[in-house]
Amino acid sequence: MAARRGGGLMGARVETFGAATLYLGDWRDHIEEIGPVDHTFADTPYGNFMHAAKAKARARPLRNDGGPELIPLEFETIEGQREEVAAAWCEKTKGWMLTFCEPEAVGDWRWALMAAGARYKRACFWVKVGATPQMNGQGPGMGVEAFTAAWCGPGHSAWNGGGRDNHFEHPVPRKPRGRERHPTEKPISLMEEITVLFSNPGQLICDPFMGSGTTGVAALRKGRGFVGIEVNEKYFDLACYRLEAAAQDGVQTDFFEYRKPVQNRMELAVPS
Ligand SMILES: C[S@@+](CC[C@H](N)C(=O)[O-])C[C@H]1O[C@@H](n2cnc3c(N)ncnc32)[C@H](O)[C@@H]1O
Repeated sequence: MAARRGGGLMGARVETFGAATLYLGDWRDHIEEIGPVDHTFADTPYGNFMHAAKAKARARPLRNDGGPELIPLEFETIEGQREEVAAAWCEKTKGWMLTFCEPEAVGDWRWALMAAGARYKRACFWVKVGATPQMNGQGPGMGVEAFTAAWCGPGHSAWNGGGRDNHFEHPVPRKPRGRERHPTEKPISLMEEITVLFSNPGQLICDPFMGSGTTGVAALRKGRGFVGIEVNEKYFDLACYRLEAAAQDGVQTDFFEYRKPVQNRMELAVPS
């Protein structure tokens, strides 16, 4: 039995689907069981700023255009945990540590990652095609989310994107899947693109906040290994369902297999 943070005990649950291993519980209770990982793509909870906006959905429906309502979040914000997450997972990671966040929190993550000894490289942006509008019209809606890219390993950082830029355009996941969806599910196409750019086939990717396992599905589809941790059993079960299917489907190299871009875009502007 493993200790559950916040009291009580829960049965230790570890599930394996092909090259994916999933742990149910708090990442702090499982990190010692996990060896070094090549990359950590942490879709952590966001900060108070984002959670507060979604909490309003508890009070009343916000949309009058027939679109999907915001869902209040059942998990704690990242505030108070950011430095601990950065320190623990930078130490475990041999390559990239990507941390997802709202644009307002890029600076907080930057300082936390640098304090943890990582080499901060860039803020990247998911441009959310079909994002929820700002329904009260009192200011701009949230059309982008961010992730910070920091290198935790020795030597130079390396990725498969050459000189391409830091914006990633992908639709917000919407379609019902015939069973419950995680309230902050990332688009699988976004995670596939990131996987192909920031890792190589055969490497091990970890998401210590895996939710319904989108990072893991992308990893298996692209021929990477995956280790994930999730504290909420409902989301853990969703992740098991999705990872089992992904392991059965096998590696899919059709879509975002990356074509190497021109290394330096300036070269394009120089007449030959
Ligand atoms: C942003 S969501 C991840 C969503 C996921 N990328 C997906 O597509 O389904 C963050 C997840 O972290 C989980 N979580 C929060 N604190 C945690 C902790 N201390 N240990 C493990 N998981 C945690 C939450 O329950 C939540 O499901």
